[in-house]
Amino acid sequence: MARAEHVDSAALARLLGGWRADDMPLPHALADALDELVAGNVLVEGAALPPQRALAAALGVSRGTVAEAYAELAARGRLTSRQGSGSRVRRDRSAGGGDHVVDGRLASFGSTRRLAELDLSSGALPALSLVREAVSAVDLCELDVYLAGDGYYAAGLPRLRAVVAEQYRAQGLPTEADQILVTSGSQQAVWLCASSLVTPGDEVLVEEPGYRGAIEAFRTAGARLTAVPVRADGLDLDHLDRVARRAALLYCQPAAHNPTGISLPAAARERLNEIVGRHGLLTIEDRSCADLILDDRGVRPPLPDPPGPGLVIRIGTASKLLWGGLRVGWIRAERPMIKRLTQAKAALDLAAPVLDQMVTAELLTQADRARRERTRRLRAHLADAVAVLAERRPAWRWTPPSGGTALWIDTGTDAVALAERARRRGVLVTAGPAFSPANAQRSRIRLPFWRPVDQFAQAVDLLE
Ligand SMILES: Cc1ncc(COP(=O)(O)O)c(C=O)c1O
Repeated sequence: MARAEHVDSAALARLLGGWRADDMPLPHALADALDELVAGNVLVEGAALPPQRALAAALGVSRGTVAEAYAELAARGRLTSRQGSGSRVRRDRSAGGGDHVVDGRLASFGSTRRLAELDLSSGALPALSLVREAVSAVDLCELDVYLAGDGYYAAGLPRLRAVVAEQYRAQGLPTEADQILVTSGSQQAVWLCASSLVTPGDEVLVEEPGYRGAIEAFRTAGARLTAVPVRADGLDLDHLDRVARRAALLYCQPAAHNPTGISLPAAARERLNEIVGRHGLLTIEDRSCADLILDDRGVRPPLPDPPGPGLVIRIGTASKLLWGGLRVGWIRAERPMIKRLTQAKAALDLAAPVLDQMVTAELLTQADRARRERTRRLRAHLADAVAVLAERRPAWRWTPPSGGTALWIDTGTDAVALAERARRRGVLVTAGPAFSPANAQRSRIRLPFWRPVDQFAQAVDLLE
């Protein structure tokens, strides 16, 4: 449950800043500006808005303007008004809890009506040049074979499944092609697991902080979320051990965790495995970011299988290594589980697109080259970003990431307000609560470091 807050009129007026718009009636412009604060989680669920008269005075408008704006927000489902207790913020969970799609594209998890000049709200990377090469090198003879059939491969193209299985084997986990289900990105993989494996009311363990898309998927499946803290050295395993017994499922990212970039040390991975095995805890290991390892310890292998059969389901993606626009991800599990999840996938969208899978299969045969390329560039960007921050934001703190594309920064201040101020200056960053099952992490921002250093520095200058 989100933390309820009382927002005083002066503070809200500051957050609203330049809310007036030349081309809009005042009540409508005010409703839009308040709506953005709700969508961006600046105003949290349950927050009590100031009385109409007080906000009107703080903004220098009539009480009628505020009354109309509140009424419009109530009509949009953003507010509840009750006699005696005033107006409180309401977030529509069924809509995913935020306005993520702007102008038909993903604007990550921040709040905005238009794309900003500097969008650092997502950690997603542009494609490697390899992707372009692979598209022009599509084997037309192979394509002809597929074109002669109906093109529906519910579990994925056999060749792609074989290539992905080979990747797991190379990382020490014996895997056959029929243990792979191809999905539309790893977000669909998370979604399929949540919708197929969770019964409403089940207790699901998620990381605090953790991946927003998973938090939303499990919440939408009706799970009761229990947060397991992620500390400077990774998932708090003592805590996990205490709560594991009563949980139906654990979702975690032991390698290159999003948003912190932390990877569990080898001994901790063994202990995680021991805990999972001892409690018979069904575990989803999301390895979406595991290709992007930046320290000198190399790619962390998947968790080995604990003694209980089929306890760990692994999720992977081509998005981080190659390009998110391929929309190719996968699930690696025991055969009965793959069968069950394939049925769910078929019910959802029948099958993944053939062409995207062909390109991805080709690209994954060059995964080592892609990894070297990504790592080399990200390391250079990380070094630049750290130098910029040391000079311009010496008070900010973070744990050096072992992987990923972003820094998880403790700003030491109200980062939600900071992100909102930055947005008004044309810079989008995502503040901590977007990554928190409990709407916590309010002093944090996730700051992607993969952009050219002058852009990064420009953004940092505007983050104050
Ligand atoms: C941990 C994690 N899982 C899953 C995803 C979904 O990625 P995609 O659907 O592009 O494969 C992401 C993307 O940011 C992620 O960070």
